[in-house]
Amino acid sequence: MEKGDMNQLESFKAMQKQGWAYFAPLEAHTTPQAARLVKRAGIRAGDRVLDVACGTGVVAITAARLGARVTGLDLTPELLARARENSRIAEVEVDWREGDVEKLPFADAFFDAVLSQYGHIFAPRPETAIAEMLRVLKPGGTIAFSTWPPELYVGRMFALTSRYMPPLPPGVSPPALWGDPNVIRDRLGAAVKDIVFDRAVMLVPALSLAHHRTFTERTAGPIVKLVEALTASDPGRLAAFRREYDALSAEYFEDNLIRQGYLITRATKG
Ligand SMILES: C[S@@+](CC[C@H](N)C(=O)[O-])C[C@H]1O[C@@H](n2cnc3c(N)ncnc32)[C@H](O)[C@@H]1O
Repeated sequence: MEKGDMNQLESFKAMQKQGWAYFAPLEAHTTPQAARLVKRAGIRAGDRVLDVACGTGVVAITAARLGARVTGLDLTPELLARARENSRIAEVEVDWREGDVEKLPFADAFFDAVLSQYGHIFAPRPETAIAEMLRVLKPGGTIAFSTWPPELYVGRMFALTSRYMPPLPPGVSPPALWGDPNVIRDRLGAAVKDIVFDRAVMLVPALSLAHHRTFTERTAGPIVKLVEALTASDPGRLAAFRREYDALSAEYFEDNLIRQGYLITRATKG
């Protein structure tokens, strides 16, 4: 890769790191989904488990409570500080590491399971991220992750957001492609066997569409950065984004809940 492209990737990751720093309140919604992913992956006491892009540690801590030996890795130091506090409160040991899924600081074939909940999808180069996740997994080990399909709420919200943002740097792939089973089959390729897909729903409480949008603007990395940029550069365009955002959310809003469907993938390393 050319030096200029590499610099663009590094700036992209630096932006992500800043945006994700405000994510902690969203852990209330990802916590129940963490239990589902850990169960689906069949984690047992004694397993060596890696939670990639662990955020505040909801998957890692759920696995550690079962007696697994867990490492949680994330790009964003503010979230790791919260993860440390969460594991202290839960009275479990987790090895927390600041790092990048595209360059995992672990030996080959070290883990029995590698998990990621809505996390590795944000790495700009999917082939690099998945190659690293599979490299550190033992043969016969389990890889499992939760992702957002492009045709459902969060995937459509990613598409809407990207229309208001500058184009992605060359070689950067949109995260919603990780929600397409055909793309996942391609990316996992011959390295795995027994791929199983499952669908699940995350229900997010909201008092109104504006409450939901306000909460998202304050917590969800890419939207935090978009709103910050448009507030400074183009308030009219920000108002248009907000109108479109509310119209999209309205399609999924019922009984004070926003319905966020997602995909769970599990496979075994061959
Ligand atoms: C939507 S949050 C999910 C957090 C957590 N897994 C959960 O379910 O609550 C996305 C996370 O991906 C992390 N992230 C983004 N790019 C990353 C990268 N290249 N390497 C490691 N973590 C990354 C962010 O810092 C953030 O914590």
